[in-house]
Amino acid sequence: MENRIQNLKNQALAQIIDADIEELEGLRTNYLGRRGELNKILREIQDLPAKKRPIIGQIVNDAKKAIERAIDEKHGKLQEGTGKTKWFDPTVPGNKPQIGHLHLVTQAVEEISKTFEKIGFVRVRYPEVEWDWFAFESLNMPKDHPARDEWETFFVGTPPHSKYGQMVLTPHTSSGQIREMTRVKNPPIRMLNIAKTYRRQSDVAHIPMFHQFEGLVVDKEISVVHLKGTLDYFARSFFGPKRKIRLRPFHFQFTEPSFEFDISCDICQGRGCKLCKAGWLELGGAGMVHPQVLKNGGIDPKHYTGFAFGAGLERSFMMKSGLKIDDVRTLYSSDLRFLRQF
Ligand code: DAH
Repeated sequence: MENRIQNLKNQALAQIIDADIEELEGLRTNYLGRRGELNKILREIQDLPAKKRPIIGQIVNDAKKAIERAIDEKHGKLQEGTGKTKWFDPTVPGNKPQIGHLHLVTQAVEEISKTFEKIGFVRVRYPEVEWDWFAFESLNMPKDHPARDEWETFFVGTPPHSKYGQMVLTPHTSSGQIREMTRVKNPPIRMLNIAKTYRRQSDVAHIPMFHQFEGLVVDKEISVVHLKGTLDYFARSFFGPKRKIRLRPFHFQFTEPSFEFDISCDICQGRGCKLCKAGWLELGGAGMVHPQVLKNGGIDPKHYTGFAFGAGLERSFMMKSGLKIDDVRTLYSSDLRFLRQF
């Protein structure tokens, strides 16, 4: 008897899963109706020994409740329109799946790579977790040098390397310069290093994880003219034909002379406006590679010279014509309403 009830219940539950609204009502009468299957069993209980009656009665009632609940739930689902409906029309156009696209930072990485590849730069990548030597020491910033303060660095708490020092999260892509020189050994070098960089900072213009792109060219008779020409080319290709680059004298430990470079403001085209104040927006740092840095990379500064530049990728992207993004953090907010615009 118990088995019969169990089988009936299982059969009912299986039929409910596949039923549509009309079939559900049929099942309700079949199983739960006055003349339904379960009541039939209840009637047979009288023939059982007195001891067994309450037990079987209880099992039948539990089965009834389970079937009733399943029917009600399915009914609810069908009414929401999420269940199976009888009138499926295969000619109705389906819902189009939304097609995504690359994140705009990835798009910017690809665009910058292509722009520099056209003039012979080769894209490389170096470790995101790097030794102090590559990030600072080899770039003329010995331990405790105050210049290091600019790079608000995350240090990794592993034991230091005997030659390369502590591990850090790369605070700038310049750490790729020495790695590239030691990899190539014999110039020419035309490196484009695009990578994630990390600094302890967060506000409208800064995020702890961002990207930089870094160029390094080492060859015979490389001069500031090559640097300026390269940056001008980049400004025109990436930002638009009317945009210009300006070099401003500055100081970095690893370049001599050193510059910061600015891009002419898109809004006022260099005349000066509310956004830029003096017509120019700061993009990055650059200069002629310091002879000691060349030496640290195993290159003879008597025969070779080089230039280098580095800039924030997100910041550069935000300065493209017409974008008007005023908070770098929105790029990483994962807000689809924002991301879908690009
Ligand atoms: N690494 C510098 C920074 O993060 C930028 C920079 C300055 C890169 C001068 C260079 C350079 O290649 O020559 O602020």
